[in-house]
Amino acid sequence: MQTEDKLLIRALRGETLARPPFWLMRQAGRYLAEYRATRQRAGSFLDLCFNADLATEVTLQPIRRFGMDAAILFADILLIPHGLGQPLDYREGEGPILQPIRNVAELAALRMDALHQRVGPVYETVARLAAALPKDVALIGFAGAPWTVATYMVEGKGSRDHAIVKQWAYSDPDGFAQLIQLLVTATVEYLGRQVDAGAEAVQLFDTWAGALSETAFRRWCIEPVRQITGQLRQKYPNLPIIGFPRGAGAGYQAFARTAGVNGVSLDWTVPLDWAAAELQGPNSQGKVTLQGSLDPQLLVIGGQAMDTEVRRILETLGQGPFIFNLGHGIVPETPPEHVSRLADMLRG
Ligand code: CP3
Repeated sequence: MQTEDKLLIRALRGETLARPPFWLMRQAGRYLAEYRATRQRAGSFLDLCFNADLATEVTLQPIRRFGMDAAILFADILLIPHGLGQPLDYREGEGPILQPIRNVAELAALRMDALHQRVGPVYETVARLAAALPKDVALIGFAGAPWTVATYMVEGKGSRDHAIVKQWAYSDPDGFAQLIQLLVTATVEYLGRQVDAGAEAVQLFDTWAGALSETAFRRWCIEPVRQITGQLRQKYPNLPIIGFPRGAGAGYQAFARTAGVNGVSLDWTVPLDWAAAELQGPNSQGKVTLQGSLDPQLLVIGGQAMDTEVRRILETLGQGPFIFNLGHGIVPETPPEHVSRLADMLRG
Protein backbone atom coordinates (compact mmCIF):
# COMPACT_ATOMS: atom_id res chain seq x y z
CA MET A 1 0.00 0.00 0.00
CA GLN A 2 1.22 3.51 -0.83
CA THR A 3 1.89 5.94 2.01
CA GLU A 4 -0.95 8.17 0.77
CA ASP A 5 -3.50 5.38 1.19
CA LYS A 6 -2.68 4.53 4.80
CA LEU A 7 -5.38 5.60 7.27
CA LEU A 8 -3.03 7.63 9.46
CA ILE A 9 -1.75 9.64 6.49
CA ARG A 10 -5.25 10.19 5.09
CA ALA A 11 -6.38 11.50 8.48
CA LEU A 12 -3.36 13.82 8.62
CA ARG A 13 -4.23 15.11 5.14
CA GLY A 14 -7.54 16.25 6.59
CA GLU A 15 -9.89 13.39 5.70
CA THR A 16 -12.65 12.46 8.11
CA LEU A 17 -12.68 8.66 8.18
CA ALA A 18 -15.54 6.36 9.17
CA ARG A 19 -13.06 4.51 11.36
CA PRO A 20 -10.44 6.86 12.79
CA PRO A 21 -6.94 5.34 12.82
CA PHE A 22 -5.29 4.74 16.20
CA TRP A 23 -1.91 4.33 17.85
CA LEU A 24 -0.82 4.97 21.43
CA MET A 25 2.05 7.08 22.70
CA ARG A 26 4.64 4.81 24.35
CA GLN A 27 2.90 1.80 22.85
CA ALA A 28 6.22 -0.05 23.13
CA GLY A 29 7.22 -0.15 26.77
CA ARG A 30 7.39 -1.77 30.17
CA TYR A 31 3.69 -2.72 30.35
CA LEU A 32 4.55 -5.48 27.82
CA ALA A 33 6.38 -8.60 29.05
CA GLU A 34 8.05 -9.01 25.67
CA TYR A 35 9.41 -5.46 25.92
CA ARG A 36 10.85 -6.16 29.38
CA ALA A 37 12.53 -9.31 28.03
CA THR A 38 14.08 -7.51 25.04
CA ARG A 39 15.14 -4.59 27.24
CA GLN A 40 16.93 -7.09 29.51
CA ARG A 41 18.74 -8.61 26.54
CA ALA A 42 19.85 -5.16 25.37
CA GLY A 43 21.40 -4.29 28.74
CA SER A 44 20.67 -0.61 29.27
CA PHE A 45 17.89 1.56 27.84
CA LEU A 46 20.40 3.47 25.66
CA ASP A 47 21.82 0.18 24.36
CA LEU A 48 18.28 -0.75 23.35
CA CYS A 49 17.79 2.56 21.51
CA PHE A 50 21.07 2.11 19.65
CA ASN A 51 20.63 -1.58 18.76
CA ALA A 52 18.78 -1.45 15.43
CA ASP A 53 17.78 -5.13 15.66
CA LEU A 54 16.27 -4.90 19.12
CA ALA A 55 14.79 -1.42 18.64
CA THR A 56 13.03 -2.73 15.52
CA GLU A 57 11.78 -5.70 17.52
CA VAL A 58 10.27 -3.60 20.34
CA THR A 59 8.67 -1.21 17.85
CA LEU A 60 6.91 -4.17 16.21
CA GLN A 61 5.76 -5.83 19.46
CA PRO A 62 2.63 -3.72 20.06
CA ILE A 63 1.72 -3.87 16.34
CA ARG A 64 1.75 -7.68 16.44
CA ARG A 65 -0.34 -7.82 19.60
CA PHE A 66 -2.86 -5.05 19.00
CA GLY A 67 -2.76 -4.11 15.30
CA MET A 68 -2.35 -0.35 15.63
CA ASP A 69 -2.57 1.71 12.41
CA ALA A 70 0.84 3.26 13.04
CA ALA A 71 4.15 2.24 14.55
CA ILE A 72 6.33 4.86 16.24
CA LEU A 73 10.06 4.45 15.99
CA PHE A 74 11.49 3.21 19.28
CA ALA A 75 14.01 5.80 20.48
CA ASP A 76 14.00 8.70 22.95
CA ILE A 77 13.85 12.48 22.73
CA LEU A 78 17.17 12.76 24.58
CA LEU A 79 19.17 11.07 21.82
CA ILE A 80 19.70 14.51 20.23
CA PRO A 81 21.57 15.90 23.29
CA HIS A 82 23.55 12.66 23.32
CA GLY A 83 24.27 13.13 19.61
CA LEU A 84 25.45 16.68 20.29
CA GLY A 85 27.94 15.34 22.80
CA GLN A 86 26.16 15.88 26.13
CA PRO A 87 26.78 12.92 28.46
CA LEU A 88 23.47 11.05 29.08
CA ASP A 89 22.57 8.16 31.33
CA TYR A 90 19.28 6.51 32.33
CA ARG A 91 19.16 5.27 35.89
CA GLU A 92 16.63 2.68 37.04
CA GLY A 93 13.73 4.42 38.79
CA GLU A 94 15.31 7.87 38.36
CA GLY A 95 14.85 8.57 34.67
CA PRO A 96 17.39 10.39 32.52
CA ILE A 97 20.47 12.13 33.95
CA LEU A 98 22.51 14.58 31.85
CA GLN A 99 25.56 16.67 32.63
CA PRO A 100 23.76 20.02 32.69
CA ILE A 101 24.45 22.95 30.36
CA ARG A 102 23.47 26.18 32.10
CA ASN A 103 24.91 29.15 30.24
CA VAL A 104 26.21 30.29 26.88
CA ALA A 105 29.82 29.41 27.72
CA GLU A 106 28.82 25.79 28.33
CA LEU A 107 27.12 25.59 24.92
CA ALA A 108 30.62 25.33 23.42
CA ALA A 109 30.65 21.68 24.58
CA LEU A 110 27.91 20.83 22.03
CA ARG A 111 28.71 20.08 18.41
CA MET A 112 26.59 19.26 15.38
CA ASP A 113 29.33 17.49 13.43
CA ALA A 114 29.10 14.11 15.17
CA LEU A 115 25.27 14.05 15.37
CA HIS A 116 24.50 11.68 12.49
CA GLN A 117 27.30 9.34 13.37
CA ARG A 118 26.29 9.17 17.06
CA VAL A 119 22.62 8.53 16.36
CA GLY A 120 23.19 6.49 13.17
CA PRO A 121 21.59 3.30 14.54
CA VAL A 122 18.27 5.18 14.85
CA TYR A 123 18.20 5.76 11.08
CA GLU A 124 19.02 2.09 10.58
CA THR A 125 16.05 1.17 12.81
CA VAL A 126 13.75 3.35 10.68
CA ALA A 127 14.98 1.68 7.49
CA ARG A 128 14.41 -1.80 8.93
CA LEU A 129 10.95 -0.87 10.14
CA ALA A 130 10.02 0.53 6.75
CA ALA A 131 10.84 -2.88 5.29
CA ALA A 132 9.29 -4.99 8.07
CA LEU A 133 5.96 -3.32 8.88
CA PRO A 134 2.63 -4.72 7.65
CA LYS A 135 1.72 -2.90 4.43
CA ASP A 136 -1.13 -0.82 5.84
CA VAL A 137 0.72 0.38 8.97
CA ALA A 138 2.23 3.88 8.82
CA LEU A 139 5.68 4.58 10.27
CA ILE A 140 6.02 7.63 12.52
CA GLY A 141 9.40 9.19 13.29
CA PHE A 142 9.77 11.65 16.15
CA ALA A 143 11.88 14.08 18.09
CA GLY A 144 11.42 16.20 21.18
CA ALA A 145 10.50 19.82 20.55
CA PRO A 146 13.36 22.23 21.41
CA TRP A 147 11.83 23.61 24.63
CA THR A 148 11.22 20.19 26.20
CA VAL A 149 14.64 18.86 25.16
CA ALA A 150 16.23 22.05 26.55
CA THR A 151 14.52 21.51 29.92
CA TYR A 152 16.36 18.20 30.34
CA MET A 153 19.63 19.59 28.96
CA VAL A 154 19.64 22.52 31.38
CA GLU A 155 18.09 20.92 34.47
CA GLY A 156 20.17 17.76 33.99
CA LYS A 157 17.14 15.59 34.81
CA GLY A 158 13.36 15.66 34.95
CA SER A 159 12.03 18.61 36.92
CA ARG A 160 8.74 19.68 38.48
CA ASP A 161 9.10 23.45 38.50
CA HIS A 162 11.75 23.93 35.75
CA ALA A 163 13.28 26.64 37.92
CA ILE A 164 16.79 26.40 36.47
CA VAL A 165 15.85 26.40 32.78
CA LYS A 166 13.39 29.28 33.36
CA GLN A 167 16.09 31.21 35.18
CA TRP A 168 18.22 31.02 32.03
CA ALA A 169 15.37 31.60 29.53
CA TYR A 170 13.91 34.59 31.40
CA SER A 171 17.15 36.28 32.53
CA ASP A 172 19.26 35.73 29.37
CA PRO A 173 16.82 35.16 26.48
CA ASP A 174 19.41 35.87 23.79
CA GLY A 175 21.81 33.32 25.24
CA PHE A 176 19.05 30.73 25.73
CA ALA A 177 17.94 31.37 22.14
CA GLN A 178 21.32 30.02 20.99
CA LEU A 179 20.55 26.68 22.63
CA ILE A 180 17.05 26.64 21.10
CA GLN A 181 18.45 27.50 17.64
CA LEU A 182 21.00 24.71 17.90
CA LEU A 183 18.13 22.32 18.74
CA VAL A 184 16.05 23.59 15.80
CA THR A 185 18.94 22.86 13.43
CA ALA A 186 19.70 19.45 14.96
CA THR A 187 16.02 18.46 14.96
CA VAL A 188 15.54 19.35 11.28
CA GLU A 189 18.64 17.30 10.41
CA TYR A 190 17.60 14.37 12.60
CA LEU A 191 14.01 14.21 11.34
CA GLY A 192 15.14 14.68 7.74
CA ARG A 193 17.30 11.57 8.02
CA GLN A 194 14.38 9.66 9.52
CA VAL A 195 12.22 10.66 6.55
CA ASP A 196 15.01 9.69 4.12
CA ALA A 197 15.12 6.28 5.85
CA GLY A 198 11.36 5.74 5.51
CA ALA A 199 9.41 7.64 8.20
CA GLU A 200 6.04 8.64 6.67
CA ALA A 201 5.01 11.22 9.30
CA VAL A 202 6.78 12.80 12.27
CA GLN A 203 5.68 13.92 15.72
CA LEU A 204 7.27 16.64 17.86
CA PHE A 205 6.83 15.97 21.60
CA ASP A 206 6.65 19.16 23.68
CA THR A 207 5.86 17.50 26.99
CA TRP A 208 6.59 20.60 29.09
CA ALA A 209 4.86 23.21 26.88
CA GLY A 210 2.38 23.82 29.72
CA ALA A 211 5.11 25.09 32.04
CA LEU A 212 5.43 28.45 30.23
CA SER A 213 3.52 31.72 30.43
CA GLU A 214 1.90 33.06 27.26
CA THR A 215 4.78 35.13 25.88
CA ALA A 216 7.36 32.47 26.70
CA PHE A 217 5.12 29.78 25.19
CA ARG A 218 5.03 31.69 21.90
CA ARG A 219 8.77 32.28 21.89
CA TRP A 220 10.11 28.93 23.16
CA CYS A 221 7.42 26.48 22.03
CA ILE A 222 5.48 27.76 19.01
CA GLU A 223 8.29 29.66 17.28
CA PRO A 224 10.93 26.87 17.26
CA VAL A 225 8.30 24.35 16.12
CA ARG A 226 7.25 26.76 13.36
CA GLN A 227 10.87 26.98 12.22
CA ILE A 228 11.23 23.20 12.21
CA THR A 229 8.03 22.63 10.22
CA GLY A 230 8.99 25.39 7.78
CA GLN A 231 12.47 24.00 7.18
CA LEU A 232 11.27 20.41 6.87
CA ARG A 233 8.59 21.44 4.37
CA GLN A 234 11.18 23.09 2.11
CA LYS A 235 12.67 19.66 1.57
CA TYR A 236 9.59 17.46 2.14
CA PRO A 237 6.54 19.51 1.07
CA ASN A 238 4.07 16.70 1.77
CA LEU A 239 5.44 15.42 5.06
CA PRO A 240 2.65 15.19 7.68
CA ILE A 241 3.80 16.68 10.99
CA ILE A 242 2.06 16.28 14.36
CA GLY A 243 2.74 18.62 17.28
CA PHE A 244 2.08 17.77 20.93
CA PRO A 245 2.21 20.91 23.10
CA ARG A 246 1.16 19.06 26.25
CA GLY A 247 -0.59 21.18 28.86
CA ALA A 248 -0.88 24.25 26.62
CA GLY A 249 -4.57 24.81 27.54
CA ALA A 250 -6.09 27.69 25.56
CA GLY A 251 -2.61 28.08 24.02
CA TYR A 252 -3.48 25.07 21.82
CA GLN A 253 -5.31 27.52 19.57
CA ALA A 254 -2.28 29.71 18.81
CA PHE A 255 -0.21 26.55 18.39
CA ALA A 256 -2.64 24.99 15.89
CA ARG A 257 -2.84 28.21 13.88
CA THR A 258 0.81 29.18 13.72
CA ALA A 259 3.14 26.21 14.33
CA GLY A 260 2.71 24.87 10.78
CA VAL A 261 1.66 21.36 11.82
CA ASN A 262 -0.97 19.15 10.12
CA GLY A 263 -1.96 17.45 13.34
CA VAL A 264 -2.20 18.47 16.98
CA SER A 265 -2.15 15.92 19.78
CA LEU A 266 -4.40 16.85 22.72
CA ASP A 267 -3.69 16.04 26.33
CA TRP A 268 -6.69 14.78 28.33
CA THR A 269 -7.42 18.13 30.02
CA VAL A 270 -8.51 19.87 26.78
CA PRO A 271 -12.33 20.20 26.52
CA LEU A 272 -13.39 18.11 23.50
CA ASP A 273 -16.24 20.33 22.26
CA TRP A 274 -13.94 23.36 22.33
CA ALA A 275 -11.20 21.49 20.46
CA ALA A 276 -13.65 20.23 17.81
CA ALA A 277 -15.07 23.72 17.24
CA GLU A 278 -11.88 25.78 17.38
CA LEU A 279 -9.07 23.57 16.17
CA GLN A 280 -10.36 20.72 14.04
CA GLY A 281 -10.84 20.73 10.27
CA PRO A 282 -9.12 20.30 6.89
CA ASN A 283 -5.73 22.02 6.69
CA SER A 284 -6.97 24.07 3.73
CA GLN A 285 -9.25 25.93 6.16
CA GLY A 286 -6.45 26.79 8.57
CA LYS A 287 -7.44 23.97 10.88
CA VAL A 288 -5.76 20.73 11.90
CA THR A 289 -6.31 17.04 12.38
CA LEU A 290 -6.76 16.25 16.06
CA GLN A 291 -5.17 13.36 17.88
CA GLY A 292 -5.86 12.13 21.40
CA SER A 293 -6.81 12.21 24.12
CA LEU A 294 -7.73 9.38 26.51
CA ASP A 295 -6.33 9.77 30.03
CA PRO A 296 -3.70 6.97 30.31
CA GLN A 297 -5.02 6.19 33.80
CA LEU A 298 -8.33 5.15 32.22
CA LEU A 299 -6.38 2.55 30.28
CA VAL A 300 -5.04 1.28 33.62
CA ILE A 301 -8.57 1.16 35.11
CA GLY A 302 -10.35 -0.29 32.06
CA GLY A 303 -13.98 -1.47 32.30
CA GLN A 304 -16.98 0.83 31.97
CA ALA A 305 -15.01 3.94 32.96
CA MET A 306 -12.69 3.49 30.00
CA ASP A 307 -15.39 2.42 27.53
CA THR A 308 -17.58 5.44 28.31
CA GLU A 309 -14.78 7.93 27.81
CA VAL A 310 -13.57 6.23 24.59
CA ARG A 311 -17.11 6.56 23.17
CA ARG A 312 -17.31 10.22 24.22
CA ILE A 313 -14.01 10.97 22.48
CA LEU A 314 -15.06 9.15 19.30
CA GLU A 315 -18.45 10.88 19.22
CA THR A 316 -17.01 14.35 19.74
CA LEU A 317 -13.77 14.27 17.77
CA GLY A 318 -14.68 11.58 15.22
CA GLN A 319 -16.85 14.07 13.28
CA GLY A 320 -13.72 15.68 11.79
CA PRO A 321 -10.20 14.59 10.85
CA PHE A 322 -9.11 12.52 13.85
CA ILE A 323 -6.56 9.98 15.11
CA PHE A 324 -7.38 8.17 18.33
CA ASN A 325 -4.54 8.18 20.87
CA LEU A 326 -3.91 8.77 24.56
CA GLY A 327 -3.45 12.20 26.13
CA HIS A 328 0.11 11.15 27.13
CA GLY A 329 2.16 7.94 27.15
CA ILE A 330 1.03 4.51 28.36
CA VAL A 331 2.15 3.92 31.96
CA PRO A 332 3.96 0.69 33.02
CA GLU A 333 1.01 -0.41 35.26
CA THR A 334 -1.31 -0.73 32.22
CA PRO A 335 -2.84 -4.23 31.84
CA PRO A 336 -2.27 -5.34 28.22
CA GLU A 337 -5.84 -6.78 28.18
CA HIS A 338 -7.18 -3.26 28.48
CA VAL A 339 -5.20 -2.26 25.39
CA SER A 340 -6.72 -5.27 23.56
CA ARG A 341 -10.20 -4.15 24.59
CA LEU A 342 -9.47 -0.61 23.40
CA ALA A 343 -8.16 -1.90 20.05
CA ASP A 344 -11.35 -3.99 19.63
CA MET A 345 -13.53 -0.96 20.29
CA LEU A 346 -11.59 1.20 17.84
CA ARG A 347 -11.52 -1.31 15.01
CA GLY A 348 -15.28 -1.75 15.41
O1 CP3 B 1 5.96 6.29 22.00
C1 CP3 B 1 6.76 5.33 21.84
O2 CP3 B 1 6.45 4.15 22.05
C2 CP3 B 1 8.15 5.60 21.25
C3 CP3 B 1 9.20 5.61 22.20
C4 CP3 B 1 9.41 6.80 23.10
C5 CP3 B 1 10.15 6.70 24.32
N1 CP3 B 1 10.28 7.96 24.83
C6 CP3 B 1 10.68 5.46 24.89
C7 CP3 B 1 11.06 5.43 26.32
C8 CP3 B 1 9.06 8.14 22.94
C9 CP3 B 1 8.23 8.80 21.85
C10 CP3 B 1 9.64 8.86 24.04
C11 CP3 B 1 9.52 10.31 24.18
C12 CP3 B 1 10.01 10.95 25.42
N2 CP3 B 1 11.11 10.61 26.17
C13 CP3 B 1 9.44 12.11 25.98
C14 CP3 B 1 8.27 12.87 25.42
C15 CP3 B 1 6.98 12.20 25.64
C16 CP3 B 1 6.64 11.94 27.09
O3 CP3 B 1 6.50 10.77 27.43
O4 CP3 B 1 6.49 12.93 27.83
C17 CP3 B 1 10.19 12.44 27.12
C18 CP3 B 1 9.93 13.60 28.07
C19 CP3 B 1 11.25 11.49 27.22
C20 CP3 B 1 12.36 11.49 28.22
C21 CP3 B 1 12.36 10.25 29.02
N3 CP3 B 1 12.69 9.00 28.53
C22 CP3 B 1 12.03 10.11 30.40
C23 CP3 B 1 11.58 11.24 31.30
C24 CP3 B 1 12.19 8.76 30.71
C25 CP3 B 1 12.06 8.12 32.07
C26 CP3 B 1 10.64 7.97 32.51
C27 CP3 B 1 10.16 6.59 32.18
O5 CP3 B 1 9.03 6.47 31.69
O6 CP3 B 1 10.89 5.64 32.48
C28 CP3 B 1 12.57 8.07 29.52
C29 CP3 B 1 12.81 6.63 29.35
C30 CP3 B 1 11.99 5.93 28.31
N4 CP3 B 1 11.77 6.38 27.03
C31 CP3 B 1 11.39 4.64 28.44
C32 CP3 B 1 10.81 4.33 27.20
C33 CP3 B 1 10.08 3.07 26.82
C34 CP3 B 1 11.44 3.77 29.70
C35 CP3 B 1 12.83 3.19 29.81
C36 CP3 B 1 12.86 1.76 30.28
O7 CP3 B 1 12.54 0.85 29.51
O8 CP3 B 1 13.23 1.57 31.43
